[in-house]
Amino acid sequence: MLDQIIQDIPHFYGSSVYSIEQFSQKSIQAVLHLTTLIKNHPAHYKNTLQGKILFIDFENESTRTMVSTQMAWLKLGGQVVITDCGVGGTSKIKGEGTIDHFRTLTNYYPDAIALRCSEEFLPFKLSNLFPQIPFYNCGDGNNEHPTQALLDFVTICENFGINYLHLDKLAKLKIGFVGDIKHGRTIHSLTKLLRLFGVNVCFFAKDQLHSENDYDEIITNYERYDISELEEKAKDLDIIYATRIQKERFGKEDLELYNKGYFNYVIDKNILSKTDAILMHPFPRVFEIAKELDNHPRAAYFGPSGQTTNGLFLRMALFALTMEENFTF
Ligand code: CP
Repeated sequence: MLDQIIQDIPHFYGSSVYSIEQFSQKSIQAVLHLTTLIKNHPAHYKNTLQGKILFIDFENESTRTMVSTQMAWLKLGGQVVITDCGVGGTSKIKGEGTIDHFRTLTNYYPDAIALRCSEEFLPFKLSNLFPQIPFYNCGDGNNEHPTQALLDFVTICENFGINYLHLDKLAKLKIGFVGDIKHGRTIHSLTKLLRLFGVNVCFFAKDQLHSENDYDEIITNYERYDISELEEKAKDLDIIYATRIQKERFGKEDLELYNKGYFNYVIDKNILSKTDAILMHPFPRVFEIAKELDNHPRAAYFGPSGQTTNGLFLRMALFALTMEENFTF
């Protein structure tokens, strides 16, 4: 079985990661297996990216993705140059276009570029324009956040004791996404990924925040509930995946409602006591999860088996697989 999975590995070498749709079941198995190996023995991989330079180009704010991407690359022995960190310090502020910006960066011969941007599908476009350089999509507008989906997947597997050889067990699970389905790029990517393994999916949101865009077709065919039904339905869920209400993406009408607290919801001890589900959130959190739950045994966002920590090891695995031609497990 492992041999079979390893045969898929050359597929990763030199690849950009712009969408979760690029991943097959087997390639996910490889990513999961390598993440676990690296998590157990990180020092073993400390020279994997020696001499390799990553540009970090984040047009929008970030804490987790920005820092864990840097740390992952550094822990593999590579070096990092920050070319944009969302504070307007580049020549884009003088009117330089996006393509000129990235053409300039590629002229400095980075080994890879990790980017977060407002323009949807820009990572895909760049990977076609500059195929010699792998681009890692760290969030493109409302569209996707594939590395987040992969780290969420690793976290789900770890919390349910599922290893890369037994991913068929995932089909028994049911996940409820809560909050802002419409603007949640982490939800778009993770839903696509979980579909590959037959995970049952449902959504809890106010009407305005359920999905309706064309590219969300993939997530409109599932059970949809009003957010007020979460308490009653929680007992049927194995995973509750809370998300922030993304007010920065709202139109005027919804923003007015937001300011009146219309979209507010809080998952607290009461809701968690009605279910055996684990609790996840991509963060940042504003008010969606009561802080009293942060040390709860089923809270899976902080801590050694949580999303934050797994973000580091997952990104190490992804960089090793995409950057190292002769990488062996
Ligand atoms: N989950 C996530 O993308 O967090 P940041 O915006 O802090 O990177």
